[in-house]
Amino acid sequence: MSQTTTTFVPGLEDVVAAQTRLSSVDGQAGQLIIAGFPVEELASQATFEETVYLLWHDALPTAEQLAAFTQSLAAQHTLPRATLALLEAATRQKAPVMDTLRMAAATLSLRAEGEAPSADPRRDALGLVARFPTIVAAYWRLLHGEKPLVPHPRLGHAANYLYMLFGKVPSAERTRGMETYLNTIVDHGLNASTFTARVIISTQSDLVSAIVGALGALKGPLHGGAPGPALDMVFEIGEAANAEPYLRRKLEQGERLMGFGHRVYKVRDPRAEVLSAAAERLYRSDGDMGLYHLARQVEQTAVALLAEYKPGRNLQTNVEFYTALLLHGLGFSTALFTPTFAIGRVVGWIAHCFEQQALNRLIRPQSVYVGAKDRRWIPLAQR
Ligand code: ACO
Repeated sequence: MSQTTTTFVPGLEDVVAAQTRLSSVDGQAGQLIIAGFPVEELASQATFEETVYLLWHDALPTAEQLAAFTQSLAAQHTLPRATLALLEAATRQKAPVMDTLRMAAATLSLRAEGEAPSADPRRDALGLVARFPTIVAAYWRLLHGEKPLVPHPRLGHAANYLYMLFGKVPSAERTRGMETYLNTIVDHGLNASTFTARVIISTQSDLVSAIVGALGALKGPLHGGAPGPALDMVFEIGEAANAEPYLRRKLEQGERLMGFGHRVYKVRDPRAEVLSAAAERLYRSDGDMGLYHLARQVEQTAVALLAEYKPGRNLQTNVEFYTALLLHGLGFSTALFTPTFAIGRVVGWIAHCFEQQALNRLIRPQSVYVGAKDRRWIPLAQR
């Protein structure tokens, strides 16, 4: 039975296109639930491995299950030769990190001639999650003339990413900061990149293709590409007294303030709450509290000015503003912000693909034709 609706909803705003057990986003209450847990609890309690297990199995692991899962994830950290070759080629071009991650992710489905397609999608899924940090860290080191590091056998996923990037075993505070970030952004309803992954997998395409498509969607500045510009903005402002004139000028010029506004949240994004607390802890123990205070000042001024310039729009701080601050505190360059987002979100993309596959119906909406209907062909010589 099919029923055609001719109502066009730009941006599919408020259209429900999936059922999910993975996360619930309440934009009015400012509440995010991930697999049954408030984001605040998951972010502060779980290791990244526990979060991955939770999303893929809809249950917390026992100690035994966690040990086995952690081991199978760690077993896939190293990169295939084709992926390393791609990273070396991209280094010669100095390709942006996010573009390189997308190209390198695509190499993960390369098979030798005659080799059968993988019969175990869970293994492919582990391979993607395990290798994303290795790809980003290896490429970053190559770009800076350093040899990629092999994953440290005694470190968990989050700590290993820091280790492979910066070359030293991270402190407990830094590991917790990284883990908090990855847990916080692991899944978020039917956002643009997750929808992309679900559309691709709904055609019965393969998991790697779905994830490559999602990476493309995440990269855009209206989605996962905002934290770099948000941090640049704080640095350009430089001191609290400059915040108001700077931000007012941007709004007068019709520019968007990066790190503010959200399609679903009409109050402060709960992830901004979690990440601002994590950033404060990190900066207090090991950072520049002046920068943290400046960011708070910029945030307050931006929210007040957005209410003045866009009344009734409820434009509040989104996840990207404090992502920028936290990742900067952990030593990340802005070029690494969006790829690091992908290192967490790939878990949610895969979980959504599994959900879509379990009850698949090809995602194929309608369009409304608004073009001409009565043209007559004009031969080339008469045009
Ligand atoms: N700064 C200034 N004005 C804004 C902002 C902003 N950050 N966000 C929205 N507006 C304005 C729009 O210009 C529009 O004004 P108008 O009605 O006068 O034309 C109004 O608010 C509504 O904006 P829409 O574009 O309809 O809202 P939408 O739901 O499409 O936008 C989005 C959501 C894309 C996130 C938007 O708020 C934005 O561009 N923010 C800045 C980029 C950003 O921070 N992106 C990260 C999002 S979080 C994530 O994806 C992980």
